[in-house]
Amino acid sequence: MAYNLLKGKRGIISGALDENSIAWKVAEKAHEEGATFVLTNAPIAMRMGEINKLAEATGSQIIPADATSVEDLENLFTKSQEILGGKVDFVLHSIGMSVNIRKKIPYTESNYEFFQKGIDVSALSFHKMLAVAKKLDAINEWGSVVALTYMAAQRTYPFYTDMADIKAMLESIARSFGYHYGVDKKVRINTVSQSPTKTTAGSGIKGFGDFFDYANAIAPLGNATAEDCANYCITLFSDLTKMVTMQNLFHDGGYSTTGVSSEVLSKFGIE
Ligand SMILES: NC(=O)c1ccc[n+]([C@@H]2O[C@H](COP(=O)([O-])OP(=O)(O)OC[C@H]3O[C@@H](n4cnc5c(N)ncnc54)[C@H](O)[C@@H]3O)[C@@H](O)[C@H]2O)c1
Repeated sequence: MAYNLLKGKRGIISGALDENSIAWKVAEKAHEEGATFVLTNAPIAMRMGEINKLAEATGSQIIPADATSVEDLENLFTKSQEILGGKVDFVLHSIGMSVNIRKKIPYTESNYEFFQKGIDVSALSFHKMLAVAKKLDAINEWGSVVALTYMAAQRTYPFYTDMADIKAMLESIARSFGYHYGVDKKVRINTVSQSPTKTTAGSGIKGFGDFFDYANAIAPLGNATAEDCANYCITLFSDLTKMVTMQNLFHDGGYSTTGVSSEVLSKFGIE
């Protein structure tokens, strides 16, 4: 059911790789809610061609951009405004990649070149997006920017390795930039801390399947799906949340504030 929450709004949605991607669901929902937007992803991710289906289904254009390149991001924000006919109202940062995770390197033995690559792709890219948008004055007043994160920024999950530190940086950028962009242009910046979700990035993490089940057994409401996450992002892009900024918002079925559940205790024979 649609509510026209984004009627007349323009946006930029990054990170839709395939139909499992959280960004893919956000694009579908944003379309349902009346928004027009540009889709973007790294040029290398376009090779699969999946994004064309999403563009067709949502009447969107695609602008390739490597989120680590300021030049690409300048092109993205400039062209998006031309295509959409004005400044944008919302931006989704849905980008994450750790070479250390991909190569299954234990945290204590992190390769620093890979670590730096992870920081650049998954956290600094957020700063770069915001800096470019601000410099070009590409986001309308009361516009909303959301980046996706994970709770390993607050609590330790051994398998999440360097991405834990990188997500902590991402969340900090939302607060720091949120202050400056808020004061200057009333632009809102938040991070959404999402449940484990079965996507390409998620499933690349060692032991992801078991952890997914564990989190599902802890959370009173169960794990939030990609579609649930998309719905939440839509509310954050809408005017209904206009005074929410510089927050890290948990979207995890109650997982982050549950110590232990009866379901997990029963696995240890504790009633
Ligand atoms: N899946 C989970 O369990 C989970 C949980 C919490 C948060 N998140 C976060 O959600 C976000 C989206 O991930 P997802 O789970 O939908 O997986 P995904 O693999 O579908 O999306 C990750 C995206 O990042 C893009 N990307 C990588 N390098 C890039 C670059 N240099 N420039 C531009 N784009 C680049 C990829 O092409 C891909 O589209 C990530 O920030 C991820 O950390 C995921």
